Amino acid sequence: MTTAQPSSALRILCRTTAAVALLSLAPLSGALAEVMPTKESAPLAPRANDPAWARADALVKQMTLDEKITYLHGLFPPNTKPAPADMIPSAGYVPGVPRLKIPTLRESDASLGVANQVEQRKGDVATALPSGLALASTFEPNLAYAGGAMIGAEARAKTFNVLLAGGVNLTRDPWAGRNFEYLGEDPLLAGDMAAEQIKGVQSNHIVSTIKHFALNAQETGRHVMDAQIDEADLRESDLLAFQIAIEKSNPASVMCAYNKVNGDWACQNDFLLNKVLKRDWNYPGFVMSDWGAVHSTVKAALAGLDQQSGQELDTQIFFGDDLKAAVAKGEVSQARIDDMVRRILHGVISSGLMDNPTPTTARPIDYDAHAKVAQAVAERGSVLLKNERNLLPLAKTAKKIVLIGAHADVGVLSGGGSSQVRSVGGAPVEIPLNGGEAASFVRVTWHASSPLEAIKAAAPGAEVVYVDGKDSVAAAAAAKDADVAIVFAWHWQTEAQDAPSIVLPENQHALIEAVAAANKKSIVVLETGGPVLMPWLDRVGAVLQAWYPGQRGGQAIARLLFGEVNPSGRLAMTFPKSADQAPRASAPGFAEQAAIDDARRAGQTVPGIKSFPVRYVEGAAVGYRWYAQRKLTPLYPFGHGLSYTSFAYKNLKVDDAAGLKVSFDVTNTGKVAGADTPQLYVTAGKRASTVRLAGFEKVDLAPGETKRVTLTVEPRILADYETSKPGWSIAAGSYPLYVGRNVGEPVLSGKANLKAWSRKP
Ligand code: BGC
Repeated sequence: MTTAQPSSALRILCRTTAAVALLSLAPLSGALAEVMPTKESAPLAPRANDPAWARADALVKQMTLDEKITYLHGLFPPNTKPAPADMIPSAGYVPGVPRLKIPTLRESDASLGVANQVEQRKGDVATALPSGLALASTFEPNLAYAGGAMIGAEARAKTFNVLLAGGVNLTRDPWAGRNFEYLGEDPLLAGDMAAEQIKGVQSNHIVSTIKHFALNAQETGRHVMDAQIDEADLRESDLLAFQIAIEKSNPASVMCAYNKVNGDWACQNDFLLNKVLKRDWNYPGFVMSDWGAVHSTVKAALAGLDQQSGQELDTQIFFGDDLKAAVAKGEVSQARIDDMVRRILHGVISSGLMDNPTPTTARPIDYDAHAKVAQAVAERGSVLLKNERNLLPLAKTAKKIVLIGAHADVGVLSGGGSSQVRSVGGAPVEIPLNGGEAASFVRVTWHASSPLEAIKAAAPGAEVVYVDGKDSVAAAAAAKDADVAIVFAWHWQTEAQDAPSIVLPENQHALIEAVAAANKKSIVVLETGGPVLMPWLDRVGAVLQAWYPGQRGGQAIARLLFGEVNPSGRLAMTFPKSADQAPRASAPGFAEQAAIDDARRAGQTVPGIKSFPVRYVEGAAVGYRWYAQRKLTPLYPFGHGLSYTSFAYKNLKVDDAAGLKVSFDVTNTGKVAGADTPQLYVTAGKRASTVRLAGFEKVDLAPGETKRVTLTVEPRILADYETSKPGWSIAAGSYPLYVGRNVGEPVLSGKANLKAWSRKP
């Protein structure tokens, strides 16, 4: 690995400037918030039967105040001058305490692989997984584990020991910039998948975060917007996904978000950090801030923030000398400082890092083996949305195949932001951005995995031609006499910006229409971060949702199209028919932010976007639940996905004697092997009665084979959260349920007679 090139360091520096510009204009920032400290919450009581807690406590007792304070604030390597000798460009660095063998924390982004945005470490490649939404669409927690384990192994070999992974914010809006990084709209699916990903990362004895706590559901104005939602709604939706994932995987750290939640920034939000996370969930690990998300010293420390990350991205170093001074003044107690350090050390010890230090120099990585994980996720997570007249799978005997658009000759699209991996094979296409908050650390990037080459290899006898699709007339002419025409359509999304709309950009609708008019056998492969509108749908024979398919995406797409792999992905997010079906048709604040970006491009000095509220009117009815409540029929429902075979469900048994268990048979009734994901939905909740995904399992079946599936239901999925108690409860009664192919296609229906049930928060 090499040190940062001057140009990339400069780009990263710009990211700082952008963040500071926004923050400095936020009303009620730093100073005012600082004079309103919350009462200090008692440090967590000693935890019985937690050896990591006892070891952490013993270490804390040996540390000086200066050593403790040093561990409470992290550097942002691209901006650190002079850089410590062992620092390499990445997201973060926190010096350790060598005399006590307390490790230096070396942090890397890792949502989809070991990140290397804008190639800050020249030539340092890593395995790039498909997007998080593709992973969620596999409905296979074991693939999430495999992905996490792979990333963790690469990170450790590259000398990193803290991974900024585990993004589990629910996808509330189809245009939201980071949807591709997250795990979809359902708390059970997202929570289960995040848990396995984190377990996989931490199986390498390194720290994983879970992020962004909480409600970082849109990128527009992410540093200043105020996410507003009722407590019960929050507990039943985004917080439930976090709660499930944290309980199952014990992430060493939780990263608090940029935005405000109900009036207070997430990183100084007493309700979120002290009350929910540390008190109600008894979370023993540490809360690290997002990069540039801290606004105060005393208030943040008392509200539950344990570590300031990437300090150069904040307006000041809050958790350094300032914190020390606050201790001297008695504004923050020594006990709270000890609590902060103990929590960090708890994560370092419980993850296994303390006893298994990371290497000091990079180690070799088996990239070929790791690429198989990336390919498996792409193959199992791609969703066959439509397949009329069995247009797919393609026959290997086809004589002429035309591929159109999206640089399908050289690669596949990737989502932008801190998750960006410089993948093995490099980036054949990279386009810098012309302004906007993402411009300083993001380029529109393609991974080198050519669908053209993969399709040529799959059909060696065919003439396979690529046209770039810029000219619809030329594309239609090329498609006219082909056996099949495949349009690769793209919609790029990135952290730090929401998409202006979910319409395919440039001339792609016209392109698809023109190709479909010229050739009846037209197929669309979608490389998108999430849902897009499809006004052309009736004109094309088949649509494969390939998401951002990662560094083996080209090969995966070819194998799916030719039936070497039977598609088995199921949508982890609802696809709307029109933009106005979703709770918000576009990002609140988008127009204001766009005007600011335009003025900046024109060289004007302009203030940043002002704080603004976003009221989440759907509450806990995120995604498909919103559609069910409003009786809206989407274009494609949550859970939808076709196969080259067919499946039957039979013999439903509802066991509601103690809790709820549902079992049934799944049979492959077709002629080829395939995998299905039957889904259990229960209509529950007296506060807001909605249909809820209560269980799922992916099953691989040979032709004619039957397997019995048993799903055990997590009661909180069916429960109401009652703030008056406070806690979870299910009222005794009869609850309708069904096993379906997706939320809109019930196959077996029944009822569960549930007894009254309750649980603390
Ligand atoms: C992102 C985080 C990321 C951090 C460090 C922030 O802008 O929101 O997800 O981990 O940067 O790169």
